[in-house]
Amino acid sequence: MIDMKEVTMVIAGIGGYGSTVLKFTLDKLEGWGVKLVGAVDPAWEKAPCWPALEAMGVPHFDSLEEFYKDHKADLAMLCTPIQFHEEHAILAMRNGSDVLCEKPIAATLPQAEHMAQVAQETGRNLHIGFQLSYVPSVLELKRDIMAGVFGAPIAFKTLTCWPRNSDYYARPWCARLKKNGQYVLDSIAMNACAHYMHVLYFLLGSTMETSAQPEWLEGILCRANDIETFDTAALRIRAAGAELDFMATHTCHEKVDPQIVLTFEKAVIKIAETREEDAIHAVFHDGTVKNYGAVRTDFYNKIPYCSDVVRGLKKPICTVETATPHLKTINAITQHIPVVNLPGCKNENQVTVVEGLQECLQEAFAAGKMPWELTDRFGAPTRVELKNYTWEDKL
Ligand SMILES: NC(=O)c1ccc[n+]([C@@H]2O[C@H](COP(=O)([O-])OP(=O)(O)OC[C@H]3O[C@@H](n4cnc5c(N)ncnc54)[C@H](O)[C@@H]3O)[C@@H](O)[C@H]2O)c1
Repeated sequence: MIDMKEVTMVIAGIGGYGSTVLKFTLDKLEGWGVKLVGAVDPAWEKAPCWPALEAMGVPHFDSLEEFYKDHKADLAMLCTPIQFHEEHAILAMRNGSDVLCEKPIAATLPQAEHMAQVAQETGRNLHIGFQLSYVPSVLELKRDIMAGVFGAPIAFKTLTCWPRNSDYYARPWCARLKKNGQYVLDSIAMNACAHYMHVLYFLLGSTMETSAQPEWLEGILCRANDIETFDTAALRIRAAGAELDFMATHTCHEKVDPQIVLTFEKAVIKIAETREEDAIHAVFHDGTVKNYGAVRTDFYNKIPYCSDVVRGLKKPICTVETATPHLKTINAITQHIPVVNLPGCKNENQVTVVEGLQECLQEAFAAGKMPWELTDRFGAPTRVELKNYTWEDKL
């Protein structure tokens, strides 16, 4: 192993995604020069990863405050629910840690601004964990986009059909606008499919560390589950001179993993990050193909990347600024697009399915259209101006 400074890391929120991260990275941490110095969770003993952490001698703490009483960490990875991101990120930075905060940044734009302000005051690095922004193949693709290899962007589109059942929606903060008086704004676009919106903005940023800014959008939001937010979203966003079509549903019968297609003047690019296909290909109109390599394989690259930032070897690549177009979009649609209630039926897996909805989204995606261009069944789209959008604290 190359001699490198050991980076100490504390992880908060180990029961859900935190356990997944640790399952795939515990055996890699040493090679990355990262030492796990604490696991924080009020329910640590129930976390699937706890036996492995216990076997490694990682100490547990009920809260981040308790950890920082007698401990320090170079990096704090936050996998806690959205409503705690602001509080936990600020606490960690004020205690001297750089922060890798799971996506989304937080629930609202003012919270994100507060976090960025504390990062500046404390001189700490505050990274947002949208993993696609740390994947080498995605970064190489972005370099080529910025260098004009493909010409101007024309239309980007993404569709995800991920059935989610009643167990998913039974989780305490899932699909809530607020929880215990704190904003959450959790939804399919804020949480499970957030990556596929963020990556469209990220790839159109004018520098490696920035994202394109949305100008306006039109869209529909629907719900068939008994929830406060929405379980289907279809948004056509205008940004950086291109059309970005984002579609995602949890009320579908068949799992269809994220599809991402980017059309430029000179090429069409497909990003696949599933178990079956893990690759980025650019096909130029003259038939030439450029392959960029795997995506999913490098999902946890965010940990060594942020550790290299601690070592002064790399610059932050996904900051609050980079991730803000996603949060701005979520805040704006949550406030300005009415949610259409759709009739759904529970299938044998306890997934509420809206008949014909998945087929409509798939047909729209294939044709480069939006659902309202094919049918009026899901209502007419609402237009939202985003250039001067600010969050209004009145939900
Ligand atoms: N990058 C990804 O692909 C990805 C995937 C899933 C979730 N996430 C993000 O991870 C975050 C957590 O989501 P989740 O699905 O794991 O949620 P979850 O509710 O399943 O798990 C959250 C964990 O945090 C713990 N927790 C609650 N309050 C805490 C506190 N004050 N201090 C420490 N721990 C606390 C809970 O006990 C639980 O173990 C969210 O921001 C979510 O968007 C990211």
